[in-house]
Amino acid sequence: MEQAIAIEDLVVVRGGKTAVAGIDWKVDGGQVVGLLGPSGSGKTTLLRAIVGVQRISRGEVTVLGLPAGHPRLRRSLGYMTQAAAVYDDVSVDDNLRYAARLLGVGPRRVSSVLQQVDLAEQRHRLVRTLSGGQRSRVSLAFALLGEPRVAVLDEPTVGLDPVLRTALWDIFRDLARAGTTLLVSTHVMDEADRCTRLLLLREGRAIAEGPPQRLRDRTGAATLEQAFLRLASADSGVAA
Ligand SMILES: Nc1ncnc2c1ncn2[C@@H]1O[C@H](COP(=O)(O)OP(=O)(O)O)[C@@H](O)[C@H]1O
Ligand SMILES: [Mg+2]
Repeated sequence: MEQAIAIEDLVVVRGGKTAVAGIDWKVDGGQVVGLLGPSGSGKTTLLRAIVGVQRISRGEVTVLGLPAGHPRLRRSLGYMTQAAAVYDDVSVDDNLRYAARLLGVGPRRVSSVLQQVDLAEQRHRLVRTLSGGQRSRVSLAFALLGEPRVAVLDEPTVGLDPVLRTALWDIFRDLARAGTTLLVSTHVMDEADRCTRLLLLREGRAIAEGPPQRLRDRTGAATLEQAFLRLASADSGVAA
């Protein structure tokens, strides 16, 4: 399996504060990797460094064998941000056709990506008339437009009810089966359980890494939430 992402000794300082404090991490291809950690723990900053839009202070980030942000990664890496950059007064279809032109992707791909995210029926609706769940899928469609081998999704299910969250995770699972590597940040523990591997972040540092089951076994915890709390308190030197 190819190496999708390699991070060495990454340090990022944002606003005078160390947001990522020395992370080493490797991700093999074809996995669903969950990035887990409380608000402010550095998830978005780490994902931005992988996408290549974050100024880094030290270290190296390699995606599919190229430096993060390399022009050749434009189509092989898809990014879904926390705040979707979508035009509200434009139809779903026109939004995506515009993005497709920028990306150098043919209009046929717009139809297939809309099928993929289950928005084919809404394609002529203005984005502002869509529900929250539909809007999330428009953002996802943007990220998947170039048929990326690596998809970076920053809290893609935030604000969605459990039914819609499950529907999105079914799409992620299908993508991973088709060979796409997914990096998904979340702070919802039941979502973390659907990942093949997890990286637990705390105050900009990686405090644990591995398959969910192994993290539970290692800590003797019944739930991932408990495992995370035990790892976090061990990290801060307080007995769990
Ligand atoms: N635009 C910014 N300017 C300055 N500091 C920032 C900015 N965005 C985030 N930070 C800081 O970087 C740290 C990590 O934030 P972030 O990566 O957004 O965490 P998360 O995504 O896990 O909530 C936090 O301490 C936050 O205050
Ligand atoms: Mg964030």
